[in-house]
Amino acid sequence: MRHTTAWYVLRRLRLAMSQREEQYLLNGEVDGDDMFVGGVSPGRPGRSTHKVPCLIAVSLDKHSCPKYMRVTPVDGWDQFEVTRRVLDMVDVNATLKTDGMGGFNDLSEMGYTHIRTISARLGEDEYFSPVLHTQIANLKAQIQGTYHRRSGPQREQHPPRGSSTCIARSTIVSTERHRTPTTSCRITLARCTTVKHPPNPEVSMFHDIPSAILERMHELERRDEIDRTDGTPRLDRLRQIPEETGRFIALWAASAPDGAMIEIGTSAGYSALWLSLACRAKERTLTTFEVLAKKAAIARQTFSQAGVGHLITLVEGDFLDHVDGIGAVGFCFLDAEKEAYAACYDSVVPRLVPGGLLVADNAINHRETLQPMIDAALEDERVDALVVPIGKGELVCRRRT
Ligand SMILES: C[S@@+](CC[C@H](N)C(=O)[O-])C[C@H]1O[C@@H](n2cnc3c(N)ncnc32)[C@H](O)[C@@H]1O
Repeated sequence: MRHTTAWYVLRRLRLAMSQREEQYLLNGEVDGDDMFVGGVSPGRPGRSTHKVPCLIAVSLDKHSCPKYMRVTPVDGWDQFEVTRRVLDMVDVNATLKTDGMGGFNDLSEMGYTHIRTISARLGEDEYFSPVLHTQIANLKAQIQGTYHRRSGPQREQHPPRGSSTCIARSTIVSTERHRTPTTSCRITLARCTTVKHPPNPEVSMFHDIPSAILERMHELERRDEIDRTDGTPRLDRLRQIPEETGRFIALWAASAPDGAMIEIGTSAGYSALWLSLACRAKERTLTTFEVLAKKAAIARQTFSQAGVGHLITLVEGDFLDHVDGIGAVGFCFLDAEKEAYAACYDSVVPRLVPGGLLVADNAINHRETLQPMIDAALEDERVDALVVPIGKGELVCRRRT
């Protein structure tokens, strides 16, 4: 195997691992802090420029012992960045204990019970939580133990970009799910595929749609058209979005911030195929919810035939029964029964990360039924919203930062 192939496989494995971990949020009592890891040489401790800034969160059991830990690299310490990274790791119903760093200022506004320990006596390398202190020390020791500098020709060949950031981040991945020797805390690390300089350019969404996706799209378009004219009962009809809406939601999904990408109302998977183009471009995955078993079966066939099974998770069941497991949401496409819209909106908006997007279909062709929900969205101060006259009318809501 050539080293480029090995790097490709490694990248896919990291992506799969980080996406799996993104499904789990820490809950209950959680301690959180900022820290720095990595660096090419021992250097000075703390905020050296060669180190990668990270957020760490550890959930505690009833004896205040560590249960699960998550760590994520961050792009800075401003409130927006810190809040969205915390939302990625910690359930909004958690009780979150942090120090007084300014980046944590917005957490109670997001719904967390936020306890801050501010002490002038704490120095830069001291931690307000002994549990965190131990876990951070363990983590740093493990990273040192798993990073081995290369020398000679191998060194020239291996790292995708020779920056300390890449070295530190790839090192983090290699400690994935490592069981710490001193405690029973399981380390779960996510988001490690988010590097500042992605080695590969983004795949185009609309210029090179794979033929397997195009073929299934065309097949479903023909089926949907027949459905609408041949008297097929309403519940059996595919009731898909038109192509222009597909392109519209793919663009929004690709522009959404980090966080789960979800769809409510899969039907046969036509709109999910459009969203899969955003998944390909952004190296992300979609979770789509379908309540009817018959439709879910067709959707499964769609995803397998179009070759996008690795990008889409289909959840069979009522979205409202699964809402607690979805975590922080970066993008949501809502296209379910109109009677469920208000409840879906109320469940999704509090979970949107800052800048997160909710796009709801049928805002014009079902305006009468949806009017109360649309009015509520337009008045909702948590979001900026607009109805866009494309397809059947799309309500677009963006969560304020
Ligand atoms: C209009 S169709 C979706 C069409 C699909 N988005 C597309 O464009 O290809 C609505 C689908 O939502 C499903 N649905 C309705 N309420 C739901 C809910 N609460 N949870 C999950 N699925 C739901 C219905 O069974 C139906 O298949």
